[in-house]
Amino acid sequence: MSSQSEKVRELIDNREQARLGGGEKAIEKQHAQGKHTARERIEMLVDEGSFEELDMFVEHRCTNFGMEKKRFLGDGVITGYGTVEGRLVYLFAQDFTVIGGSLSETMAKKICKVMDLAMQMGAPVIGLNDSGGARIQEGVNALAGYSEIFQRNILASGVIPQISAIFGPCAGGAVYSPALTDFIIMARGMSYMFLTGPKVVKTVTGEDVTQEQLGGAEVHATRSGVTQFVVDDDKSGLELVRKLLGFLPQNNLEEPPIHENDDPIDRLDDSLNEIIPDSPNKPYDMFEVIGAVIDKGEFLEVHADFAKNIIVGFARFNGRSVGIVANQPKSLAGVLDINASRKAARFVRFCDAFNIPLVTLVDVPGFLPGTGQEYGGVITHGAKLLYAYGEATVPKVTVTLRKSYGGAHIVMSCKQLRGDMNYAWPTAEIAVMGGAGAVEVLYAKEAKESDDPTKVLTEREAEYTKAFANPYNAAKYGYIDDVIEPRNTRFRIIRALQQLSTKKQVNPPKKHDNLPL
Ligand code: HXC
Repeated sequence: MSSQSEKVRELIDNREQARLGGGEKAIEKQHAQGKHTARERIEMLVDEGSFEELDMFVEHRCTNFGMEKKRFLGDGVITGYGTVEGRLVYLFAQDFTVIGGSLSETMAKKICKVMDLAMQMGAPVIGLNDSGGARIQEGVNALAGYSEIFQRNILASGVIPQISAIFGPCAGGAVYSPALTDFIIMARGMSYMFLTGPKVVKTVTGEDVTQEQLGGAEVHATRSGVTQFVVDDDKSGLELVRKLLGFLPQNNLEEPPIHENDDPIDRLDDSLNEIIPDSPNKPYDMFEVIGAVIDKGEFLEVHADFAKNIIVGFARFNGRSVGIVANQPKSLAGVLDINASRKAARFVRFCDAFNIPLVTLVDVPGFLPGTGQEYGGVITHGAKLLYAYGEATVPKVTVTLRKSYGGAHIVMSCKQLRGDMNYAWPTAEIAVMGGAGAVEVLYAKEAKESDDPTKVLTEREAEYTKAFANPYNAAKYGYIDDVIEPRNTRFRIIRALQQLSTKKQVNPPKKHDNLPL
């Protein structure tokens, strides 16, 4: 064998060794837990054969606690680039088989390298997390590594889409990298995110709690709202990443991709002319409305299990991505509260940052009253949504289906928050407040002085409702651009979006805003 062939052989051997990560035993352990390895995950994520790995020969430099004897080619993360549906993405996948995927200084450098490339090229970064956190043996160098990553997450925010999938532990300060990104995906029974684990919790607070109870996928999907998506396993999580990317532009200077559409733009849906129940207190399912108007009913819901009283997610109209925000009358009557405001505000800001038009479907009785909400700061949290809509410069189309009262009317993308096209169904009730509340304020004295207060209030409420619970008062002032036939909603939205596709609106220059955090 020539010396060149020997060197080529050595390269091939080294590559094989790097591909084995922490070794066959560790890979078996990973598989036995129902988890795929970092490399398998990358293969599932990117287009076949498109992955180009970088830094395969990087090794850690730590010599504390005998670490010089524990070296693995590539260390505990696989980094590189590939394509998804032919579009460039950068990615890193933590390899739990190598020292528990714990983060070394050199691993952080590998991750930062792909993040820097992603910023230069204007392409999304996807992080697949499966790690025991900072590599304890490396001390402050591991901490510095995290900080370098966080800093890049911050600078990349609003410039390129950042998606984090958690397919194992993600503990301690390590959670802050995913938290700084746009979307988090967790897998049931596989993913855990917490700042302090169960043992520390027990020591500090005395609380007995399992990993699942403290930071499992269900908890973060339903209670904390930390994760936007929950999936059954890593495979379905990676499919979801591909699907999500299909709605997003490569960066904040580009438009989202346009998909082929064979759903007729003028498709009428007669069921929408019948969907609003006669009784104002009877709910209906807003998902039926969304499904009826968007292309082929294909809706990618975001934050599905959190604050169900508001629905947010991605859809397409005539092949173009939009962000949908819709009150859900089926859950808490579609009221706005702290969590609904936080959820929708974050979504609206994401869409605005990435040139995705907003379609808002309104049926909102108001903000949820009570001490629980007030003490929790509903004023500040509600202001987030108000702020998000008001600062957004993407095309904004609003359709009011039924209730739209008071402050909630304003918050839900009203005309004066620079709503571009504001439509209403004939069933819309756009007013300062609902009839029952209004007459309590206006006619309390008259009712008290009468022989039959209930009769007075009922009559007055009927008068109020007739006069104010309609779309025409708002339309009279131009606050509503048109009252539309419900079955024609899809066509009207598409027409509006077509018209608005060249919209240019610029906010005043500033260092950055100071939205009510
Ligand atoms: C060094 C680590 C490690 C870590 C795991 N390992 N976490 N090595 N630093 N943080 C090693 C283990 O020693 C083991 O090595 C191998 O990885 C696999 O781990 P196991 O414990 O055998 O796996 P498992 O039973 O599945 O448990 C996984 C785990 C547990 C729950 C993640 O390893 C664990 O609790 N790790 C520590 C988690 C933690 O407290 N992290 C916080 C660090 S501080 P061998 O050689 O035995 O195979 C932090 C602060 C960051 O992250 C701040 C950023 C701002």
